[in-house]
Amino acid sequence: MSEIIVAVDGPAGSGKSSVSREAARRLGFAYLDTGAAYRALAWHCLDEDVDTARPEDVASRVTDFDYAIGTDPDRYFVRVGGEDVTSDIREPRVSAVVSQVARVPEVRQQLTELFRRIIAQSPTPGIIVEGRDITTIVAPDAPVRVLLTASPEARMARRAAELGTEPTESTGQLLASRDAQDLRVVDFMNAAEGVTTLDSTELDFEQTVQALIDIVRAAPSA
Ligand code: CDP
Repeated sequence: MSEIIVAVDGPAGSGKSSVSREAARRLGFAYLDTGAAYRALAWHCLDEDVDTARPEDVASRVTDFDYAIGTDPDRYFVRVGGEDVTSDIREPRVSAVVSQVARVPEVRQQLTELFRRIIAQSPTPGIIVEGRDITTIVAPDAPVRVLLTASPEARMARRAAELGTEPTESTGQLLASRDAQDLRVVDFMNAAEGVTTLDSTELDFEQTVQALIDIVRAAPSA
């Protein structure tokens, strides 16, 4: 099992995926993108014409969900039923329904167990796990717990850059509405007790990666 678990939570567009992955690469740690699992299940539901507005229909799909994710930051992939869906799960049609999938309690329970198994099986000295409920639910005892935040304007600009578009009102609205839906399930805007807040509004990518690495190195057990 990885000795050092680094739990990173934050809202959409805070940069937590790219920052966590690069920090893991430099530390020689594994990297687990938990949002990818929720996205992959949402993709699977769309692929199978499941009505994602019906929680019981979504719940029935999680038991036989054939899912695989790479935890090597240099060889990241996501597969469903053997099919590579690494880029498909980022499509707007998946983003539009993922919160409906993620609010189903059976889904959260199953995926949380899956994440804990992946963490337990990781052979690296450490693992950075990022998502919305890692510091509070998935790994509340992690020795390093960080909430990565940024202003709404910075988050919108970063998400637009990722998608290769100009920041528009609708990008911002989509992001805000997904955050609002997600916040009904878990609070990822306020740091829980013992969680370090890292505000990246005024930091560039490199500075944010370095700040996260500094937090990991400063932790007593790291
Ligand atoms: O990258 P971005 O912040 O846009 O989202 P993501 O990390 O790919 O997560 C996609 C969706 O999965 C979120 O909008 C949540 O609905 C859900 N999620 C969750 O509920 N719990 C997690 N630990 C991670 C993601």
